[in-house]
Amino acid sequence: MKLFFVFISFVFAGWFTASAQSARKVESFDRNWKFMLGDDSLAKSNTFNDNKWRTLDLPHDWSIEGSFSQRNPSTANEGGLPTGIGWYRKTFTLPLSSKSKNIIINFDGVYRNSEVWINSHYLGKRPNGYISFNYDLTGYLKFGNQTNVIAVRVDNSDQPNSRWYSGSGIYRNVWLTAVNKSHFKQWGTFITTPQISDHSATVNIKTGISSTDKNLNLKTVIYDEKSKVVADNTSSINNQVDAIDRDIVIQNPILWSTDHPYLYKVVLQLFKGNELLDDYNVNIGIRSFKFDSQKGFSLNGIQMKIKGVCMHHDLGALGAAVNTRAIERQLQILKQMGCNAIRTSHNPPAPEFLTLCDKMGFLVMDEAFDMWAKKKTKHDYHEDWAQWHKQDLTDQILRDRNHPCVFIWSVGNEIREQFDSTGISITRELVKIVKNIDDTRPVTSALSESDPHKNFIYQSGALDLVGLNYHQEVYADFLKNYPNQKFIATETMSALETRGFYDTPTDTSRHWPQSSKIPFTQGNPQFAVTAYDNVAAYWGSTHEETWKIIKKYNFLSGLFIWTGFDYLGEPTPYPWPSRSSYFGIVDLAGFPKDVYYMYQSEWTNKPVLHLLPHWNWKPGQIIDVWAYYSQADEVELFLNGKSLGIKKKQGDDLHVVWKVKFEPGILKAISRKNGKIILSEEVHTAGSPAKIQLIADRKSINADGNDMSFIKVKVLDKDGNIVPDAENLVNFKIKGPAGIAGVDNGSQISMEPFKANHRKAFHGMCLLIVRSQKTKGKVLVEASSVGLKPSTTVLNSK
Ligand code: GAL
Repeated sequence: MKLFFVFISFVFAGWFTASAQSARKVESFDRNWKFMLGDDSLAKSNTFNDNKWRTLDLPHDWSIEGSFSQRNPSTANEGGLPTGIGWYRKTFTLPLSSKSKNIIINFDGVYRNSEVWINSHYLGKRPNGYISFNYDLTGYLKFGNQTNVIAVRVDNSDQPNSRWYSGSGIYRNVWLTAVNKSHFKQWGTFITTPQISDHSATVNIKTGISSTDKNLNLKTVIYDEKSKVVADNTSSINNQVDAIDRDIVIQNPILWSTDHPYLYKVVLQLFKGNELLDDYNVNIGIRSFKFDSQKGFSLNGIQMKIKGVCMHHDLGALGAAVNTRAIERQLQILKQMGCNAIRTSHNPPAPEFLTLCDKMGFLVMDEAFDMWAKKKTKHDYHEDWAQWHKQDLTDQILRDRNHPCVFIWSVGNEIREQFDSTGISITRELVKIVKNIDDTRPVTSALSESDPHKNFIYQSGALDLVGLNYHQEVYADFLKNYPNQKFIATETMSALETRGFYDTPTDTSRHWPQSSKIPFTQGNPQFAVTAYDNVAAYWGSTHEETWKIIKKYNFLSGLFIWTGFDYLGEPTPYPWPSRSSYFGIVDLAGFPKDVYYMYQSEWTNKPVLHLLPHWNWKPGQIIDVWAYYSQADEVELFLNGKSLGIKKKQGDDLHVVWKVKFEPGILKAISRKNGKIILSEEVHTAGSPAKIQLIADRKSINADGNDMSFIKVKVLDKDGNIVPDAENLVNFKIKGPAGIAGVDNGSQISMEPFKANHRKAFHGMCLLIVRSQKTKGKVLVEASSVGLKPSTTVLNSK
């Protein structure tokens, strides 16, 4: 135990000396927590002995470590994993030199009902599982050799409380911030760009200061991406500390856009004479945007479609536990598809998510709530609504308002108060809260009642944008029903697919549950939905149906598809053992389903040619072969060298189809433009499983204990063709400074654990997620499976 304290003191001794230029210290507070799954009221006390508890690093989600069971009170809608109560404790010391500081603990998010104690003193409770919150520890801390204990109780036991997988625990990062007595207020800075032209941009900075000192100076410097100073200003703040308001002009600004997400860094410094009292950095993007009832959406004066997806916050096999690389990977996959916007359905996201969207060029619809005072599940946030909604919404807007990616605030999703007059007053109240803090972005609410006369949230008159969920049948007439209103399709499609599973023929599109064919189609004992894009929930549409409408009319500013990735929970349309969603364009493991390439062909300028399905069928069976293509005039299909004809998309077609009598061999497609070959693609009939292939998304990772390599595992035949129905169990071994963070295969019904050193392939593939440790070195990853030739890959952790 003693050694432990020495280590902790060592870590934090560097705190106030780490950087000579910086007065504010923000340190990760994630390492070396103690955790116990269960309840013990004595654990809040400093003197409690937590020796026997497990030691772990945050972010941590205990649900994802558990076993699937139909008996778990969370139900399949929340992923069928355990929930309950858990405790976290961290013992730490602080150097004597920090005695004069204000010390604040920042929680980015705890699911849910967190209660926090410092040195046995109760700091407070925060029911909302998605909100960031802070406690001022000043006055309760001990310094030097004396130890401090922070204890956190997390209660996710009242179930159900969500319509999707939430995770349980301190699943986002925790920070310790130390500032001088005179400092910039937490979330007290608001930066906007009220005027932008080709030649200059005015950057307005409002900042609040907490100070007992007089005669302070505020220095503001703006840097470009090359760290060159592009504007600066120093002025006395004359003791008007509450809301200092400054304009700074940047000449020849480089604008932020989704294609070119250029960021400037604003550095604020607070001085007393020459003494630096505090400093605060924030990245900004200079951009303007507009919604127009006739012309739709424009960014920096250029009209564009919002090509968005809705995303829940889970990271598949990693659960809700935030990992920056895992979020970045999801965003990269979506970016390559041509996606330019994300809706954080239906809650505020992790801060890292917004930072990545700023950097990578995504617009974000930042959503607050899935329910207000009226419940959707028995124990959801409606229980906390009266006491907490003002504070939660305020904190969300304050925290997120400087991100250039955020372009819409949503105060709710399919809120029950649409249907009664309380919707009017609550909508007005919420919009007012938002506008008082930020009046630069439109506020919407995702509406499921599309009749304007019956919708009380719309009737409030308070929304800037009409956000419709589904009801694609009314989009064309939108302006007739909602004269002069601005439109956004806040949620669309709810199409259903399982990666790698095909049900042919595909002549009609089918809407579950109106077509009794869907749940148990031919050859489908496994609760899989065909990956041809022709099945959707009855309230939605196939991907092609709604995209064609959105594409057609300029006044339809764009859409958010339900969803970008499959997520845990909400396994519509199947019962247990289905436990994750079928709605994603990409499966839970991050492997694109076929329709991904339809979007890529429509949403990017790169040439696309994608063929489906696989080519392992029964001789004589008639198979619908689809091709998605772009940047070409036509596609010709060949089976074993024999042409099956040339097809061209007609009218608003988004794919072409051949009906092909199956014979084993090679199916090949060639796309041509002006007679010249653009791309070709082959699908081979595969033999039996023979070997494993490992494909790491990154071979070089950082030895920081957080970075990850996502390794795609393929089961191949002896000739190197993926075996489309392979389900071989693959075992993994890691040698070197790294560990297994999770395994998955994208199956919506697998009961295998996500934390394991093995996984069955699903339609020929599975995923291994390797996480670095803090030691550098080579990492050998070995994959083996009975009867298959094993495979290895080497990662470099540096
Ligand atoms: C919507 C809802 C989403 C999700 C979706 C599934 O009505 O807003 O959260 O449940 O349905 O189709």
